[in-house]
Amino acid sequence: MKILVYPHEILKAKARPVEKIDGALQKFIDDMIIMMYKAKGVGLAANQVGETLRLFVMDVSGSEEASNPIVIINPVITEVDGSEVAEEGCLSVPNYSAKLKRPAIVEVKGYDRHGKEIRLEADGLAARCIQHEIDHLDGICFVDRLSPLKRSMFRKKWPKILESLEKKDG
Ligand code: NI
Repeated sequence: MKILVYPHEILKAKARPVEKIDGALQKFIDDMIIMMYKAKGVGLAANQVGETLRLFVMDVSGSEEASNPIVIINPVITEVDGSEVAEEGCLSVPNYSAKLKRPAIVEVKGYDRHGKEIRLEADGLAARCIQHEIDHLDGICFVDRLSPLKRSMFRKKWPKILESLEKKDG
């Protein structure tokens, strides 16, 4: 498993609903959780590791251990409220972050990894993370939501960042 880097085609794909929660999916979820902590991210969507399935994992607690990861399958935002500007980054867009305005509070429903229906209300970083991950499932990366000016600045910067990443890897 590895994290795909923007602008990979799979990151632009709309993920399909999960229809069956079986052993293979449980293993995939476990691997995603391990990957999220290893990459020191607060959230990871299935598309980011190459599976166009509607699910994401999240832990905004700031803990480096797999303490309390949240798994949401087939998530749907049912309500949003307020708005907030905050710095945002993404494991698929390494070494880049930008301020982005999003609703401040969200209500989301979906299923946990055992197929039980869950509903939760979130604010702050959790609300931002939920919206960011569901965007991934719809083929949207946070840089696609930047203002035209910021997006053009990103487009100029990004090839250089990619180049420096490749040098580091090689
Ligand atoms: Ni992301």
